[in-house]
Amino acid sequence: MHKLFVHPLPVRVWHWINALGFVVMIATGIQIRYIGLIDLVSFKPAVEVHNAVGFVLIANFFGWFLFYLFSDKIRVYLPELSPAKHFAASFRQLKFYGYGIFKGQPNPHHVSVYHKFNALQSMTYQIVMLLLVPIQCFTGVLLWDVERFQSAITLAGGLRVVDTVHVLVFIFFAGFIFIHPYLASLGHTWSAHFKAMITGYEEVEDE
Ligand code: HEM
Repeated sequence: MHKLFVHPLPVRVWHWINALGFVVMIATGIQIRYIGLIDLVSFKPAVEVHNAVGFVLIANFFGWFLFYLFSDKIRVYLPELSPAKHFAASFRQLKFYGYGIFKGQPNPHHVSVYHKFNALQSMTYQIVMLLLVPIQCFTGVLLWDVERFQSAITLAGGLRVVDTVHVLVFIFFAGFIFIHPYLASLGHTWSAHFKAMITGYEEVEDE
């Protein structure tokens, strides 16, 4: 085993603020949407916390985006342009998660500095970070002040459409917050990837 520096400090700071923020957003979101289902706090403080943390997460997202935009590390997010290669690698990875891992087979993905994500992570993180998080931030800001953003809401299809999109993406994230840590626990030890997201160093098998 040797150590490889894969998560730069800005990514780690962004990630843990983001993770904590999403837990708060989901809890307060449920509180706001499904009044009476959970009553940790009353409606008004839930709205205030949801709005404030939402703006922190938007600023945090721009920190993540600008870091990758102006760093050579952006290479980890560049998609595999050959569909055949991408699907073969995704299938190999699915087979590992669904079967090989239970048989003690080695992970088919080999981490390197510019190739830290396997095919499934790569696709998921691109969709999450470049599509779903921006959609959630945008619709959230529109819903934050419906009068001020009336014309943008109309352009997007009306309040019902904006609200439905926000809730559907929320439902995705409510599932993601459980599945993502589970998949992140499938390193060579359950805590290996968590430690890597704290220290920056991933432990990698010697070739
Ligand atoms: C309790 C919540 C969370 C935990 C415990 C957690 C854990 C982890 C761990 C251990 C990694 C490194 C291993 C890997 O690459 O898969 C990671 C990476 C990542 N996580 Fe999370 N996560 C959480 C929430 C989130 C949320 C809410 C998002 C997005 C909305 C997110 C997005 C990402 C992304 C994009 C990466 C790759 C970061 C990069 O290297 O650029 N995570 N997470």
